[in-house]
Amino acid sequence: MSTEKTTTVPSRIFLSPPHMSPSERELLLEAFDSNWIAPLGPQVEAFEREFAEKVDVPYAVALASGTSALHLALIILGVKPGDDVATSTLTFVATANAIRYVGANPVFIDSQASSWNMDPELLAVELREATLRGRPIKAVLAVDILGQCADYDAIQELCKQYQIPLIEDAAESLGATYQGKPAGGFGDIGCFSFNGNKIITTSSGGMLVTANKAWADRARFLATQARDPFPHYEHSEIGFNYRMSNLLAAVGRGQLRVLDERVKQRRENYRFYQQEIGNLPGITMAPELAAGRSTHWLSCITVEPAEFGATCEDIRLALEKENIESRPVWKPMHMQPVYADFRAQGGSVAEELFAKGLCLPSGSSLTESDLNRIVGVVHSVRGHANTIGEFNFHQRVSVPSENAFLTGRPS
Ligand SMILES: Cc1ncc(COP(=O)(O)O)c(C=O)c1O
Repeated sequence: MSTEKTTTVPSRIFLSPPHMSPSERELLLEAFDSNWIAPLGPQVEAFEREFAEKVDVPYAVALASGTSALHLALIILGVKPGDDVATSTLTFVATANAIRYVGANPVFIDSQASSWNMDPELLAVELREATLRGRPIKAVLAVDILGQCADYDAIQELCKQYQIPLIEDAAESLGATYQGKPAGGFGDIGCFSFNGNKIITTSSGGMLVTANKAWADRARFLATQARDPFPHYEHSEIGFNYRMSNLLAAVGRGQLRVLDERVKQRRENYRFYQQEIGNLPGITMAPELAAGRSTHWLSCITVEPAEFGATCEDIRLALEKENIESRPVWKPMHMQPVYADFRAQGGSVAEELFAKGLCLPSGSSLTESDLNRIVGVVHSVRGHANTIGEFNFHQRVSVPSENAFLTGRPS
């Protein structure tokens, strides 16, 4: 008999795993048995109808991804090569990449501290300065990050004043509201993602929503290889293969039915973290705008190392050791090597959020025992710094260098 000690690894807690209800499987099998194994079909049509109703926007077009929705939105709203598009610096790279797909240039706007989304005051500065420079901004692509809508009263007003289109990247914020209205309806076009880590998922997928029927029709046309209405294959424009599969739409329909529950569960996670760690010295929960209701798709904290006695990277590493996934807040686009040469308006707020921010496990299937495990680790790290003094937030790797972290400046 072996005398070796066996250590059991606790089961992994993921950042934001898929959470299916029973009806997804039923709908998927129904689609499968109907032999509509195609990009298009009755499930796609039903998903579009039900989704449009849910977000209170007249038309919805189901697509292969959130990125393809953003790409089509920019094309449909007439953004051309060489145009400048103002967008949030604190976002996932897909937002900025879509701007590059049409040959336009992103201009990165810093975050407002009260929501972490695009700062409308800095957007106003950029719109004014760009006009004075003789190179006006052609469109605004505002992002609703981490489950929360941007401050649309001000952003919409600016877009109206400068007569430029507004695209809402609501990929992370399905189910959120602002001034009582659902995310996705604040722009001329709204874009959603259903990739595996989103509040509801179809494994991969996206949706474009708009109140303009001609734009919805154009999105469908461009997403199906721009096929002209002939019995044979006729094409007078370049299109894309961007439609959602009928099988995935079936999954989406099931997920949509439990969206409200998922929002409730994610908000509960946030409330739990707020109660258990939100008042520890040096820890601040991500803020929620008074005018909005966040889904808290991801529950995030910022950590002041001097007060907490450890950095957010200490917490991340300690969680990882316990088989718990957490993730730094987005590295701002203006700090990304691939976007270093593009214009930015401000940037220090987003830089600090990246330096001090951590997204905690936020799945809607987290149990009380999971949540207790997570906050237990956070408590255990307090005062036990390992990375203070050697944490270079610019690269977000521990390197033996000057104390870049505490000064808040990249070294
Ligand atoms: C803010 C934001 N925009 C766009 C996307 C792209 O969506 P997808 O991965 O479905 O292409 C994502 C997420 O993946 C996102 O978080």
